[in-house]
Amino acid sequence: MPTSLPPAPSGYYARHIFFCLNERKNGEDSCSQHNAQAGFDHCKMRVKQEDLSGQGKVRVNKAGCLDRCAGGPVVVVYPEAVWYSFVDMEDIDEIIDSHLKNGQVVERLLLPPDVGR
Ligand code: FES
Repeated sequence: MPTSLPPAPSGYYARHIFFCLNERKNGEDSCSQHNAQAGFDHCKMRVKQEDLSGQGKVRVNKAGCLDRCAGGPVVVVYPEAVWYSFVDMEDIDEIIDSHLKNGQVVERLLLPPDVGR
């Protein structure tokens, strides 16, 4: 059963999602090696397609390393500060449909609290 959140407080954006797109050149693992760009592009496309982007709605942003690399690829959604790890575009769709649109946390994709770098 998904956790229900109160409506997002009014701010410039109702919700803001950040995708780590960090790429390490030294051979160390990073989100970019795990489909992060594809997830970002898919999210941008869907949010635009459904007219969810803009003031009072949703903003999708790139981020550098969020220092939770071991769970990568990772995203974080504000203002709730909910962290997710995703595998494919269906996971992104679920984050959009459930959390970004309706404030319902997608429990199955939550990044465990102790996952760090
Ligand atoms: S490389 Fe993505 S969180 Fe560090």
